[in-house]
Amino acid sequence: MNTQWFQIESVDEKEKIGKAAGILRRGGLLAVPTETVYGLGADGLNEEAVRRIFEAKGRPQDNPLILHIPSAGWLERYCEDVPETAYLLAERFWPGPLTMILKKKELVPLRTTGGLQTVGMRCPDHAVTRAIIECAGVPVAAPSANTSGRPSCTNAEAVREDMWGKIDGIVDGGACEVGVESTIIDLTVTPPQLLRPGGLPLESLREVLGAVSVDRAVTQKMADGEKPRAPGMKYRHYAPRAPVTVVTGEARASARYLLTHIGAGAGVIVFDEFAGLFPGHIVHRLGGMHDKKAQAQRVFDALRTFDSTGVTEIFAQCPDTGGLGLAVSNRLKKAAGFRCVEAPDDTIVVGITGGTGAGKTTVLEILEKNGALILDCDAVYHEMLRSDEALRAALRSAFGDVFDESGALDRQKLGNIVFGDREKLRRLDDIVHEFLPRELARRMAASSASTIGLDAIKLMESGLGALCDTTIAVAAPEEVRVRRIMKRDGISEDYALARIRAQKSDGWFSERCDHLIMNDYATSSEAKENIRKRLNIIFMQIKETKQHGKQTQ
Ligand code: TXA
Ligand code: MG
Repeated sequence: MNTQWFQIESVDEKEKIGKAAGILRRGGLLAVPTETVYGLGADGLNEEAVRRIFEAKGRPQDNPLILHIPSAGWLERYCEDVPETAYLLAERFWPGPLTMILKKKELVPLRTTGGLQTVGMRCPDHAVTRAIIECAGVPVAAPSANTSGRPSCTNAEAVREDMWGKIDGIVDGGACEVGVESTIIDLTVTPPQLLRPGGLPLESLREVLGAVSVDRAVTQKMADGEKPRAPGMKYRHYAPRAPVTVVTGEARASARYLLTHIGAGAGVIVFDEFAGLFPGHIVHRLGGMHDKKAQAQRVFDALRTFDSTGVTEIFAQCPDTGGLGLAVSNRLKKAAGFRCVEAPDDTIVVGITGGTGAGKTTVLEILEKNGALILDCDAVYHEMLRSDEALRAALRSAFGDVFDESGALDRQKLGNIVFGDREKLRRLDDIVHEFLPRELARRMAASSASTIGLDAIKLMESGLGALCDTTIAVAAPEEVRVRRIMKRDGISEDYALARIRAQKSDGWFSERCDHLIMNDYATSSEAKENIRKRLNIIFMQIKETKQHGKQTQ
């Protein structure tokens, strides 16, 4: 079949809109953009057209389609006994990512509703698509435009991949704003029931409806023979070819879990903050850990892109279920066939950084005295250079034999190779980044300490700061630092100054960390007392945040 491509930017392109609408009127198949995902549309009252939708998608016949209309004014045409709440919801959220299940009228064919006496109604927030529907003059039955079982399409190219040659036309209306499908609410039961979480948060529905129950299929795998109320929820949708494991729990905790559990060929779906911690793996960024809007936009792309790679398994970080997080986590969990693990989160990891002489050691000593495990990144790295065979093998394969007869790293030799050669230096950085965070996460997981102090000058540049529940920059005025270094290392004032100035400034550290501790006290007992007080406050804040986070998991 010849598939026509329509690039339509605005409702003023009347001629193209007319042509696209013509396809629908004649009983053809037309993929259309919506704010959620692309839909594969046909005249929802035309049984033959609807049959062809099922055929093109390879969709099971009992899975009903949603009817798309240009305004709430069309509801009465196709639905019986429309409750007042439907109009309240429409007024507040239409056009938008909300589908309402209502009693159907006789003229809506059972083929469209998968044999049900109810019908899903939705008014999409996409002006071009509404104009096409209005011009066609028919309600448009449109499931997501993907081949059945694949992730939904959030741009026209993805539709081309699945549907080219199988349908009459594709309207390219740009990337989808929301990225996950509409929220489905069943208004034929009391209280109304959420059948599928989507682009409209459950919290918004509750504001209007009060009590809303949630179908079990939203959060759990259905037992054999058990039926979700939205028939489509029973299928293992959105599944990439490689098996997926979803890791729930606080974002930093799940990142630490991933570091210690993924195998060599694994792909990862992670929040942006952690993307740098997985060199050597195919990484898909899901958006910032708090940016659920971005996560919704990217979740299907994440699942889609791995199919063209050779990954053997996929691990995904998962947001909490507040707001759009319910839809994002539902799509990820469905892709995983509900294979989920909860990352343990019983430690507080504090990253401590700062320049030489700023007084980092005092802070670390106080933490250690209070029972914290201190991980000195430099020391761990040097230990690994001696004993971690995988790291040693990676260095050998990248730079040749850089170890001396005793087995120790020949620093000079490695230095000669990498300094002055940007590409090699980056390679070394990548290797360190591949092995060090993993080893640190392993030690964190193995420890029973409730607090861990991560000591690293390059805490922020290395991406390790992302693993910490909080980061603290320790700073002190230059003259204080000079005095400290002169005393500690027995060097001249000029040399001490030169060393300080060769490093990043206090301002650089404090801008990037969550907290700043000024360690400029004259006596060490005064310093310790003040640092203890600051740490107490910082710990109280972290505990509160964690507690709050757990409530929305
Ligand atoms: O955002 C969306 O809703 C997208 C765009 C294209 O509008 N459409 C979409 O359609 O996601 P589809 O067919 O992929 O998913 C519709 C879901 C299925 O799970 C189906 O079982 C359920 O809605 N559904 C449709 N009519 C229903 C009904 N009368 N009762 C219960 N569930 C229904
Ligand atoms: Mg679908």
